Amino acid sequence: DESTSEQLVELAKRRGYFFQSSGAYGGVGGFYTFGPQGASLKGNVEDAWRDRFAVAEGNMEIDAPTIMPEPVFEASGHLDGFDDMLIECPECETSSRADHLVEDNTEYEDAESLPIPEVEEIIAEYELACPECGAGLADVAVENFNLMFATNIGPGDSDPGYLRPETAQGIFVEFPRLKEYARNQLPFGVTQIGRAYRNEISPRRSIIRTREFTQAELEYFVDPEEDEPDLESVADVEVTLYPASEQNKDDGDEIETTIGDAVEEGVISSPWVAYFLGVAKPWYESVGVDMDRFRFRQHLSGERAHYASDCWDAEGEIDGNWIELAGFAYRGDYDLSKHAEHSGDRFTVFKQYDEPKTVERATVDPDMSYLGPEFGGAAQDVVEELESLAGRDRTAFEGDTVAIDLDGETHELPVEKTGFSVDEETIAGEHIVPHVVEPSFGVDRLVYTVLHHAYREDEVDGEERTYLDLEPEVAPTFVGVFPLQNDAELEAQANEVVADLRAEGLSVTYDDSGNIGRRYRRQDEVGTPFCVTVDYETVEDEETTVTVRERDTTDQKRLPVEGLAETLAEIREG
Ligand code: GAP
Repeated sequence: DESTSEQLVELAKRRGYFFQSSGAYGGVGGFYTFGPQGASLKGNVEDAWRDRFAVAEGNMEIDAPTIMPEPVFEASGHLDGFDDMLIECPECETSSRADHLVEDNTEYEDAESLPIPEVEEIIAEYELACPECGAGLADVAVENFNLMFATNIGPGDSDPGYLRPETAQGIFVEFPRLKEYARNQLPFGVTQIGRAYRNEISPRRSIIRTREFTQAELEYFVDPEEDEPDLESVADVEVTLYPASEQNKDDGDEIETTIGDAVEEGVISSPWVAYFLGVAKPWYESVGVDMDRFRFRQHLSGERAHYASDCWDAEGEIDGNWIELAGFAYRGDYDLSKHAEHSGDRFTVFKQYDEPKTVERATVDPDMSYLGPEFGGAAQDVVEELESLAGRDRTAFEGDTVAIDLDGETHELPVEKTGFSVDEETIAGEHIVPHVVEPSFGVDRLVYTVLHHAYREDEVDGEERTYLDLEPEVAPTFVGVFPLQNDAELEAQANEVVADLRAEGLSVTYDDSGNIGRRYRRQDEVGTPFCVTVDYETVEDEETTVTVRERDTTDQKRLPVEGLAETLAEIREG
């Protein structure tokens, strides 16, 4: 229900998970600060991601700058195409996303993929109004708004730069060096965890849509002809899929299946995408996403980014809405080809054949062609056109004449006058442009989803209680340690316990303020899995024991202090 989010946002602020930034200056939309608990939870989620997607997969991790020069984004297509539809209210000047306005107030579900004139027509037809002041928007023009934050590199405005809108470009532009580290051996993967920036028109729902956020991305480079994923290792992973074909039906429904069956039945067409969905699902579960509120949804064709030929999103359910947590896109050779074209550098990998191959090469020898007079001085252009034709389509030279297009006209040229010939050549390999498979995770949204799915209310001893059922592996605070009362002896003993636990690498909070019940409630709200209380029995008995309370059940046990740190550390490791 709606109130879970409201209560969560309230709890997040109270307990140091996250809050709007620059509050002293009134706050600014779309920027959030992770407080002490939030920063730690986020860090734990990032570490878990790194363990799974970099370390366990044998991929490299890099850390690139967040500001990049303009040519990078000319090449990547972001300068021209990374736009959202903006509509500005003529009365109160509130900016809204036109596609969201349409989706929220009409039966259109994928307004983002519609052309602007059509969106304007829908706004007029439904007499849609400004969500802020209610003024009519029927006659208001919708514009494309580029989401990148612009800046200048160095003084003056001659060197424009942009804050990267995805961490991915930092990986693609370094490909010529990264492939060296991979010793030119495909497949290989490069990961990056870092900030991305988008000047979102209307940031929404606290940290779900912000203007500065963290992505964890993997760019996996493959030889499209030869490399295949280890599908067997994920074949049995059970998944809920919502393919585009189902979404196009009136009574479309989600499918419960396994990764293996989904590939076999063609529901997921790219085996590489399927592989990463299979890796991602148990990982999401391990950090605490509720698997009953999780699915993979395929993008509809109009929804896909300019570079993607297929894309599936991981989605988590929040208050009845599905939120995109990650995208798994097949980017093909789009990015590397574009950067090669724009930079002139080599974005290819040399693929050595098992044995040298003899190939036929078609060429056009300009000295042998008799072209000048017939084409009135355009000989060089003709030769270039012929050369490109020879490389592309030798069959054009197999008849008596070859047709070439020049200056919008088709000319029939006798083959014997072209200087065309075919030579044999032995080659050891070829330069290929790898294809890219991209699992791209949003970290902030995931942190929000983990908190939302962990939010619980129950009753303890007749009192209402709120607690976060966080997985021990990611919980920001693992143990709370309390002296039962303000007593020097108890406090000294409790501090010894704290030191023991910290020495074992556990994150511990010490709390001696307020009554013990209040202290338990505080840690419940933070989601601390265990609390340890030092009481008079601890200091009086021969064997030093403490009370260990478990968060979810509130059950308490007396355990010896000796070995406690090791036992808890084992639980934390899972
Ligand atoms: N490199 C591919 C890429 O950037 P994307 O689907 O635009 O793809 C990937 O973004 C993930 O980043 C999303 O699934 C989402 O989790 C997160 N993300 C995107 N925009 C965001 C925003 N404004 N605020 C928070 N997270 C965002």
